[in-house]
Amino acid sequence: MDYSDYSDNDSDVGMSFSDASTAPPSPRSANSELESEGDSVSMRSGSPSSLLSISSSVKRRSYRHAHGRTMNSSSDVYSYPADEEEIDRLHKQHLFLIEATGEKYSPPIYEVMTSALVDGKPKACLDLGCGSGSWIIDFARDFPESEAVGVDLVPTLQENSSIPDNCWSEVDDLNYGMEHFYDRFDIAHGRFIVSGIKDYRALIDEMSRVLRPRGVLDICETDYCVYDINYQKIVVSPHELGPPWYARFLTFASEAATALGSSTAAIHKIYDWLSEHPGFEEVQYREYWFPVSPWMDKDRDPFNYKIGGAVRDDILEFLGAVRVLFLRRGHREEVVDELINNTRYELLQAKLPCYVRMLSINGRRKADYNPRRRQVPT
Ligand SMILES: C[S@@+](CC[C@H](N)C(=O)[O-])C[C@H]1O[C@@H](n2cnc3c(N)ncnc32)[C@H](O)[C@@H]1O
Repeated sequence: MDYSDYSDNDSDVGMSFSDASTAPPSPRSANSELESEGDSVSMRSGSPSSLLSISSSVKRRSYRHAHGRTMNSSSDVYSYPADEEEIDRLHKQHLFLIEATGEKYSPPIYEVMTSALVDGKPKACLDLGCGSGSWIIDFARDFPESEAVGVDLVPTLQENSSIPDNCWSEVDDLNYGMEHFYDRFDIAHGRFIVSGIKDYRALIDEMSRVLRPRGVLDICETDYCVYDINYQKIVVSPHELGPPWYARFLTFASEAATALGSSTAAIHKIYDWLSEHPGFEEVQYREYWFPVSPWMDKDRDPFNYKIGGAVRDDILEFLGAVRVLFLRRGHREEVVDELINNTRYELLQAKLPCYVRMLSINGRRKADYNPRRRQVPT
């Protein structure tokens, strides 16, 4: 039986508003100040051209409400919330990943950050789809001599009052290119952004242009699949309901995100695209397997038991975030509730041994690569 009703019953689908900054942002200088002007907040550096202002109207235009959650207002693709609940989930997920992987940054990032400066320029890092800003704020604090820039569809990072002076941000949609950032960064990092990217291969190409010679491209994504105890993918249909529920849930989510225009199906190709790209070398691939719940024996495997518990907590919050995606896709509310409630129950039971997989892929931009400029349509 086909449970989906793909009629587009979400009146806010199709709204389009782009609030991309056009002026290249500059770092906040030592004399940066945070100004409150009525209900607007400005971050101003010594240079008048580097004024980044978040007026209340910009904030208002950056967000919209749908199905009880606050969303970005500009992307027709990215369909997860952008509210406090989601920002809080992303921050906890960031802390969890440091604990589970045992590292904050992939090894090439450390290599770049400990290498000598070129022409005296400070090292610069770009975080694509920075979300809560937890990663780029950590980076800015860990490397205080660097410049750290976050880009996102919404001004979450700009609204964070604890960002260090060497960190700033921009509201922009990565799908429209990053010309103003060309040749400016030593690191281009993107984590869990696939559901907002229309063409991941084009994004990789664009990253080759924002990087300076020998810069690091660093990507981290999960592949919307659940794997059994033998690390074999659990294949289920996105057109019927039934156990195994978390595998079903992610299959529905992947189908919905793809149908709305994101490149979720491309995740398995990222390594090949990077390896084939003429601008990259030293491409590395690593994968991490996380239990989706604490299904193992606590005494025999306390580490994975703890990891499984943390992953489950994250997924339980993620279930609510994905609800909006399902409704935007046109699934009926009772179908969505059945999917979410059964998934929640299965995870709380913690009886089904299974894993999710995170891919970490990085490469260095070749020193002698001369990227052709992106053609700007006239
Ligand atoms: C799942 S969150 C991950 C956030 C952060 N990278 C992390 O690891 O915690 C995805 C973020 O990417 C942003 N995003 C998705 N598509 C985007 C796009 N096309 N342009 C800019 N930001 C995008 C979303 O707004 C969201 O904040």
